[in-house]
Amino acid sequence: MSLSVVILAAGKGTRMFSDYPKVLHNLANQPLLQYVIDIAKSFNPDNINIVVGYKSKEVKTAFSHEKLNWIIQKEQLGTGDAVKYAIPYLKGSQTIILYGDVPMVELNDLKQLIKKTDNNLGILTFNKSNPIGYGRIKRIENNIEEIVEERDCDDLDRKITEINTGIMCVDTNKLISWLPLISNNNSQKEYYLTDIVALARKEKIKIRSHEAKAEITISGVNTKIELAMMERALQNTKTNLLMEQGVTLLDPSRTDVRGDLKCDLDVEIDVGCIFEGNVKVGSNVKIGAYTHIKDSVISDNTIIKPYSHIDSAKVGTNNIIGPYARLRPGTETNKDVHIGNYVEIKNSKIGAGTKINHLSYIGDSIVGSNVNVGAGTITCNYDGVNKHQTIIEDNVFVGSNSQLVAPVKIGAGSTIGAGSTITKDTPANELSLSRTKQTSIPGWEKPKKN
Ligand code: UD1
Ligand code: CA
Repeated sequence: MSLSVVILAAGKGTRMFSDYPKVLHNLANQPLLQYVIDIAKSFNPDNINIVVGYKSKEVKTAFSHEKLNWIIQKEQLGTGDAVKYAIPYLKGSQTIILYGDVPMVELNDLKQLIKKTDNNLGILTFNKSNPIGYGRIKRIENNIEEIVEERDCDDLDRKITEINTGIMCVDTNKLISWLPLISNNNSQKEYYLTDIVALARKEKIKIRSHEAKAEITISGVNTKIELAMMERALQNTKTNLLMEQGVTLLDPSRTDVRGDLKCDLDVEIDVGCIFEGNVKVGSNVKIGAYTHIKDSVISDNTIIKPYSHIDSAKVGTNNIIGPYARLRPGTETNKDVHIGNYVEIKNSKIGAGTKINHLSYIGDSIVGSNVNVGAGTITCNYDGVNKHQTIIEDNVFVGSNSQLVAPVKIGAGSTIGAGSTITKDTPANELSLSRTKQTSIPGWEKPKKN
């Protein structure tokens, strides 16, 4: 069966108290609407139509990378009015209606709904012990009679706990014929999409339903509190999955995965860590508290100590990184590397067994193996206009508080005397230093106070 998708996203989200349209608020670093678009794409539909209204330009711009059909609803006159705008674009035998602010909808529930709908009308329902605010599913002898909106409910209707999630699947041609027949003759003077139930019944079209099982999957986001609750729920599913795969999380409620985290066996993650984008972690890795890792690879047997910050880096096996280390984009370390506290590395390759343990900046460099970079060493890679490369060959010892002014090459096996400013290439296996000789002035006296 072929399918059109309609995603309703015209609402302002008044209760978010924000200048941004609701569907652009982030859940785990992605706009709410992105989740719904991703689900829609997984059906490989004929087209994805998004009905926007409030700040439609901003919403469109945020998704300019996606192939979508944008439809502008001039005024928010109700869900029935919103879907009507999509009529000229509906293709395929079925149309499914989703909501831009219901991001955790279950793919499997939608598949079942689509299947059960066939060429009829299908409604995704939920059994909610506290159904206040939702449209109620009214049945007679198990058959769905109508959907009654909260404000149109009488006392008996109000007691019904089977609710309309809003998500529906409909035979496309029938939907197109019903939408213009919906009136706004109700307490809210809105065009209710739910009125198509009565129209279907009139034509003796079967009304099917599928019941969603988890409340979070049908929940919309209306407030910052609901957004935070949904974030926790999403994090719970992510951390549960990690633990099911054997990852040790010292406290899953204090772990945040805003993207995709893949871990091999026996990974241990302490509290407060944040993972963004695509992060791959090898086996036997320990990640210390309050570490932030984005789009990076951490190889086997490496220890990341607390408060480290790793962005777009490849960390080798058996490394010790941190505490308080910062690996910036383009950092690649080989095996057995130690990067210590207050060390920043950018766009540099660090060879096997090399140690840079204290207070250093290494940028645009190629550092060989078994190099020891002393405390406070700085590669001066920027002349104010251009960036230049520093090469430190194997087995070099750089004395503390040295500046290596790039472009410069430190020859293999050489030693740089502490406190040197090196501006020329240094020969292999020799001691190079640049500093005035230490002198002492005999009989020198401290200045006296006037
Ligand atoms: C709707 C359903 C109700 C269901 C509930 C589930 C109708 C008439 N009622 O009620 O049965 O229980 O959803 O949450 O459909 N929207 C537009 N344009 C509009 C109106 C709404 O794009 O003109 C979008 C909103 O941005 C929102 C969604 O549709 O994301 C739902 O609209 P809302 O007004 O919240 O629906 P309810 O009245 O809660
Ligand atoms: Ca409404």
